[in-house]
Amino acid sequence: MAYAQPSTAPTWWRGAVIYEVYPRSFADGNGDGTGDLAGLRSRLPYLRDLGIDAIWVTPWYVSPLADGGYDVADYRAIDPAFGTLEEAEALIADALALGIRTIIDIVPNHVSEQHAWFQAALAAGPGSPERERFWFHPGKGEDGSEIPTRWVSDFQGSTWTRTTNPDGSPGEWYLHLFAPQQPDLNWSHPDVRAEFEDVLRFWFDRGVAGIRIDSAALLVKDHTLPEYREEHGPGEHPHVDRDEIHDVYRAWRKLADSYEGTRVLVGEVWLADRARFAQYLRPDEMHTAFNFDFMARPWDAAAMRESIDTTLAAHGPVGAPATWVLSNHDVTRPVTRYGRRDSSFSFAAKRFGTPTDLAVGRRRARAAALLTAALPGSLYLYQGDELGLPEVEDLPRELIQDPMHVRSQGVDPGRDGCRVPLPWAGSEPPFGFSPDGTATWLPQPAQWAGLTVQAQASDPASMLHLYRDVLRARRAEPALGDGPFAWLDAGADVLAFARGDLACVVNLGSEPVDLPPHADVLLTSDPLERGRLPRDTAAWLRLATGSPDASRPGTEEATSTP
Ligand code: GLC
Repeated sequence: MAYAQPSTAPTWWRGAVIYEVYPRSFADGNGDGTGDLAGLRSRLPYLRDLGIDAIWVTPWYVSPLADGGYDVADYRAIDPAFGTLEEAEALIADALALGIRTIIDIVPNHVSEQHAWFQAALAAGPGSPERERFWFHPGKGEDGSEIPTRWVSDFQGSTWTRTTNPDGSPGEWYLHLFAPQQPDLNWSHPDVRAEFEDVLRFWFDRGVAGIRIDSAALLVKDHTLPEYREEHGPGEHPHVDRDEIHDVYRAWRKLADSYEGTRVLVGEVWLADRARFAQYLRPDEMHTAFNFDFMARPWDAAAMRESIDTTLAAHGPVGAPATWVLSNHDVTRPVTRYGRRDSSFSFAAKRFGTPTDLAVGRRRARAAALLTAALPGSLYLYQGDELGLPEVEDLPRELIQDPMHVRSQGVDPGRDGCRVPLPWAGSEPPFGFSPDGTATWLPQPAQWAGLTVQAQASDPASMLHLYRDVLRARRAEPALGDGPFAWLDAGADVLAFARGDLACVVNLGSEPVDLPPHADVLLTSDPLERGRLPRDTAAWLRLATGSPDASRPGTEEATSTP
């Protein structure tokens, strides 16, 4: 079979399908129960057959894994558990030969406590230049035993940890917006800026097509270390979305643009304010950013319609394409989330024992695949969602490693439930992830036998088949990906829109609905019932030539191109 080489168009990223690889859980090449680069390389043909344009690989660097690799000890070396730098280079080349670009993860807000800079800062002591690269601060109170601020960590608890001086006495405190093993860098320090620009060059020189920027809105802090106020105006929060941050990304964009081929900056920007979000996407900053607003919405037509509208309205003025994301390594798997009574997502609401109806969730996740793949812009797919894997909610508590769980005193289930190793083949764990008899780093449910790649490949009704069909059709339809979009009116519970002569119709109501006039049905997420679209089902339709919908934009027009 012949496969397309990667598009050489400088705008390849505007409509790309990007697959997130969490290497620890993708495939194990050396038989130690943990995924690695050898495993990923051996499975690249699977990703080619799926029909993706790029992979985004979450951190593969040397790391003590206090936060699944988002605690980086060396940004220029691969963790020995994953492989070597030579293997990473070979992976980038192998993938490209199959038409797949590689995007890597850059973690600029913090480093691992094992990073040479932090170790040097601890050793050098208070007042040293080594400490200026971080946020060391004396505590409040006479003996400095009180935290410098009452800021709250993204992983719960305080953002400050006290150090011990070389002579054993209690010392300064240091800032960590996440776990104590992840000290925050001081982005006003020239060394920090220079170091990350150099890290970017290191990887761009090795052929990566882009970077995913971790916690991208958090880098800059208010030097006066104020407490939170009840409300912060735009740019006034002490450590979220401060105006000075944009200088960093302008410099990175210049650097990326100095390379051949388009090297893209993809931001992890969690911001409710859509206008502030869009500022990161100005033409001289990032190319795209994850659309978490849409991801967090419940399975509800009005809520999703509103998110689509505000997304397109926010992106339009800056000329950036939207992104569509159903999940990632931090959030509940769609099959589980969409089967819940409250199917919205928020970190704060995650609890053990929240019931779900997986049959409902699976129907909706299938429909959501057609919906997101038809919306204008680029598409992100998290590993295992193409298999319809549910969240694993019954991991033995003692095996859960995620600091979100551990630091919540066991209240928050954490994120390991979406990070369980993929099932590839066979009828029992480790399902071809590792050699038979190997214990994987998180255990796989025995019920996954029917969800392996092998089982689904031969089942035309499987999620894997659906994803392959959707991505193939998306590639074949010039109107999909980036480009114009127009709503069609199909009733309050139905999301319907035209992309050129193609329409996507999703029924989020409780009763079957009639399809709008069409010439052909291209794809459905589940079978039609007597020609009607059942509940929780989506269809892609070819509109009749000359039909008003095909030739004329809908009443409300939106487009993702400027
Ligand atoms: C991002 C990552 C998440 C990590 C956090 C801290 O949100 O996606 O996995 O825990 O940053 O680096």
